[in-house]
Amino acid sequence: MSFKRTLVTAALPYANGPVHIGHLAGCYLPADIYVRYLRSAGKDVKFICGSDEHGVPITIKAKNEGISPQQVVDKYHKIMGDAFKEFGISFDIYSRTSSKTHHQTASDIFKKLYDKGVFTEQVTDQYYDEEAKQFLADRYIVGTCPKCGNENAYGDQCEKCGTSLSPTELINPHSMLSGSKPVLKQTKNWFLPLDKLSPKIKAYIEQHKDWKPNVYGQCKSWLDSGDGLQPRAMTRDLDWGVPVPIKGAEGKVLYVWFDAPIGYISATKDLIPNEWEKYWKDKESRLIHFIGKDNIVFHCIIFPAVLMEHGEFILPDNVPANEFLNLEGDKISTSRNWAVWLHEYLLEFKDKQDVLRYTLCANAPETKDNDFTWKDFQAKNNNELVAILGNFVNRTLVLTHKYYEGHVPDALEYSKEDLLILEEITKAPDKIAASLEQFRFREALGELMNLARIGNKYLADTEPWKLIKTDEKRVKTIMNISLQITCNLAILCEPFLPFTSNKLLAILNINPIKWNGAKQTTNMHPGHKINKEELLFSKVEDAEIEAQVKKLHDSKEANKAKLPSPEGEGLGVRSPQKPEITFDDFGKMDIRIGTVLEAEKVKGADKLLKLKIDTGIDVRIVVSGIALYYTPEEMLNKQVSILVNLAPRKIKGIESQGMILMAENNKGELSLVSPVKPDVNNGSVVK
Ligand code: MF3
Ligand code: ZN
Repeated sequence: MSFKRTLVTAALPYANGPVHIGHLAGCYLPADIYVRYLRSAGKDVKFICGSDEHGVPITIKAKNEGISPQQVVDKYHKIMGDAFKEFGISFDIYSRTSSKTHHQTASDIFKKLYDKGVFTEQVTDQYYDEEAKQFLADRYIVGTCPKCGNENAYGDQCEKCGTSLSPTELINPHSMLSGSKPVLKQTKNWFLPLDKLSPKIKAYIEQHKDWKPNVYGQCKSWLDSGDGLQPRAMTRDLDWGVPVPIKGAEGKVLYVWFDAPIGYISATKDLIPNEWEKYWKDKESRLIHFIGKDNIVFHCIIFPAVLMEHGEFILPDNVPANEFLNLEGDKISTSRNWAVWLHEYLLEFKDKQDVLRYTLCANAPETKDNDFTWKDFQAKNNNELVAILGNFVNRTLVLTHKYYEGHVPDALEYSKEDLLILEEITKAPDKIAASLEQFRFREALGELMNLARIGNKYLADTEPWKLIKTDEKRVKTIMNISLQITCNLAILCEPFLPFTSNKLLAILNINPIKWNGAKQTTNMHPGHKINKEELLFSKVEDAEIEAQVKKLHDSKEANKAKLPSPEGEGLGVRSPQKPEITFDDFGKMDIRIGTVLEAEKVKGADKLLKLKIDTGIDVRIVVSGIALYYTPEEMLNKQVSILVNLAPRKIKGIESQGMILMAENNKGELSLVSPVKPDVNNGSVVK
C-alpha cells in the first residue's frame, strides 16, 4: 500500500433518535478503532462523520413529535454528537447536512452532473395527497399488501411478509398525512441512469475482490440480479432537503441518498477548508467508508457512480460494512424500545464505556448478524477484562509498590524463558496491526488479550511472590519484564479501550507512546517511579445484569398493549375507521368542558387518577387512566372534555361518573383533549 493519507468516514446517522448499541457496533466503534490505530501508527488520517438531517425519516419523526423537521435535527444532532463523544468515538469533525457548506456542496455537485448531461429526465406517476397538497413518499402511503393481505403495508414494503413493494401495488392505498385516498399525478424528476453506467460500475467493483465477502457479494448480486441496475431518481417531491438547483424543479429537493454521502465531502471542507481537496482528489489518498449492511448499495454503487460522473474525485477504496447486531435474540427496534441506549447505559454503568466497547468489539457482527446479551456482557467483563487484563496489570503494579516502592527495577539478567517472552512481546504490535488492517477487529482484540494472557502466565510460572524470599535479583528481572508488558498493553489497547489506556498511562506515569514503540521492551526505565495502583475494571454482579434484562422485558410487555408501529419510528399504524353511525347516534353523547378541582393517585393502580371535576352542571368524581402521562399536580385546574352521560361505573371501588376524552398516539401515549381558546366556560357543550 502506497497511500499518503487516509480519509475514514462513518455513516452519517439520521438525526432522528438517540444512539443505541446497534449503531456503535455497526460502524462507529470499528471506524474509531481503525482510526485510533492509524493515528497511533503515525499515519495521516482524518475521521469524518456528522448527522444526516434530510429525508423522510426526519419528516416522519417531526410529524410524530409534532415539531418541525429543523427542531428534530437540532435536538438529535446534539444528543447524538454528545453520545459519540462520551464513548470516545474520536471524530475529527461531527458535522451536519443542514449546514450551509453542505447545501452548497451538494447543490454544486448536482449542478455539475446536470450540466454534463448525466441525468435523464422522466415524468412518472406518483401518488399525491390532494388534501395535504403534497406528493407522498413511499413511507407515507399505507394499504393492503397484495401478497399477504396485511392491511397496514407501506408503499415501499410490507413489514408482515417482508415483500418490497411499490406504492402502486398497494390495494386500497391511503395517505398517512390526511387519511384520504391519494391520486396519481404526473411529476418530473431527474434520474441517475445506473443502467447505462452499469459497465463502469461493474469494472470498479471487479477491482475490489479484496472487499469483505458480505460487501462484495451484495454488490455482485445487485449488479447481476434479473434486470440489473435501474435508473434511480435523484430528486424528490418533498419540502425538506437541499433544493434542486435547476429551473423547473421548484418545490423539489435532492434525494437524501444523493446528498447524504456528499456530506462526507462537506464535512471535510469544514474541517480543513484549505486542504480538503488533497483528501478527496489526490490519487495517493485512500477513502474508506464504515457502514452498516443496509447502506452497502448506496456506498458501493450509487455514490461511486456520482463521483465517477463528476470526474474529479477518488473512489472509495474499501467499504468495510458490518452485519446487524441483535439484542437478547431479537432485532433491535427503536419503536418497540428493544434497545440499549447509550445514555441509559451510562446511568447504570458509570465510567464503564470501555466495557461496552470491549463487548461490542469482541462480539462485532463482522461476518454475520450477532447477538448482544447481558449475560455475555457480564462474562466478558468478569472473565476477560477483570480476570485477565485487569488481574495481570494489578498484580504487576501492586508488587512493584510492595518490593520497590513504585520504582521500576532493572532487568539484570534474562533467562531463556525471558527471552522467549520478550520475543513474543515484540511481535504483538504487528500481529494486532495485521488484523486491524484487514478490518478483523475481533481477531485484533483477541491478539491484544493474548499479550495480557502471556503476562498472566509469566507471573504464574515464575511466581515472584515466592522467589522474593530466595532470589531478589531474579525477581527484579521478572518485575521489569512485567512492567514492560503492562506499558505495551497501555499502548496497544488504546484503539479499543481508550479510557483504560489513559488511566493506565497515568498510573505508569508516562506519556503516550506510538504504536511501534510497543515493539520495544525497554519503555519503562529502571528507577522511574509509577503512581499508586488503581483497579482498571470491577466485577459486574448478577443483580445488575438481571435488572437490565428485566428492564428490557418490561418494555416489551408495555409494548404489547400498544398499537403496532413500524420499525424505525414510522408514522404508526392507525386503527381502522369504525362502522358508520348517524348524526343522531353522535347526538346521544353529552360532552362538556370541565375543570379539574382535585386530583390524586388511586392506591394500588399506577395508571389511574381520581379527579374531582367541575362540569358546569355539577361537581363529580371521575376515575381516569392517565396517571402514566400526567401527575396529579399537572392535572390541577386543567380544562378537560368529559362525557357526562356515560352510565356510572365502579373502578377500583370508586364510582366514576363520566369519562375524560383523550387522544392516543401510535405509541399508546395519551394526551388530554382541551379547548384551544381560553374563554370556554365549564359546561360548554362539545359537538
Ligand atoms: N442516514 C443513513 C442511515 O442511517 C446513512 C447515511 S450514510 C451517508 O442509514 F453516507 F449517506 F451519509
Ligand atoms: Zn405482505
